[in-house]
Amino acid sequence: MKIVLLGDLHLVSPQDPYHERRSRRRHFADAWPFFHRIVEWVRDEAPDLVISVGDLVDWYSDENRDFAIQLMQELQTPWVMTPGNHDFLLVNARGDKCNADERVSGIRSRWEQSDVALGNRVMDMGRIRIILVDSHESSVSADTHEWLGRVTQTDAANVLVTHVPLNIPEVVDFILSVDSEKDLEKYVLTGAPRLYEQCVASRVHSVFTGHLHFDGYLELDQTRLFFLPLSICAARKKYRGQGHIAVMNTDDLSVYMRGQS
Ligand SMILES: [Fe+2]
Repeated sequence: MKIVLLGDLHLVSPQDPYHERRSRRRHFADAWPFFHRIVEWVRDEAPDLVISVGDLVDWYSDENRDFAIQLMQELQTPWVMTPGNHDFLLVNARGDKCNADERVSGIRSRWEQSDVALGNRVMDMGRIRIILVDSHESSVSADTHEWLGRVTQTDAANVLVTHVPLNIPEVVDFILSVDSEKDLEKYVLTGAPRLYEQCVASRVHSVFTGHLHFDGYLELDQTRLFFLPLSICAARKKYRGQGHIAVMNTDDLSVYMRGQS
């Protein structure tokens, strides 16, 4: 069996009503036609499942949600996602972020109304167990450590998919080596600093994350860390590796990148 993993997409619907936001975010708002290239690659790979590592939309609106779902359906493959911070982001008429806790809690149900699940869950596929963890706030829910401890006790090869990279020194060093300006409060799991040592090390075979908008790979003890680039191709040269997807063969656990040359 085969799975395809998509990095951040930041889709924006032509119907989205937040025009001020759109004009500030043109590099993403105008990028969605590139998704048709992704459709071609995915259909050619003919995977059994597609997984988005989150930031499916650039900000939440019903229009952006519906547009993203419509595009994902063009893949003609079952798909799931684990959410990113932008999938929960609300903006106001001036285009500014306006997240308030009570409104954010309503966004989860808005996604679920359209049959898009965002919570922690497990999927077994062939030799692998896919573990989706919601890390969109650069943290995880209070029960995640205990839950991960349980679901990783399997004979399958565990594959963790989550939006925000793990908070460990090797990852911090890697991020700063590419972009010394990156705000580490936001770009690693600052709210779950011991997740790797408590639940991942020696238990998880591969970890896929997004969020950084550049690509990378690290090997730690028995765990491979894949940092997925933007899968959409945005009008910003600084995004290294953008316009690529990852393909994993669940039989031999091999992974390769595919995308524009
Ligand atoms: Fe993100």
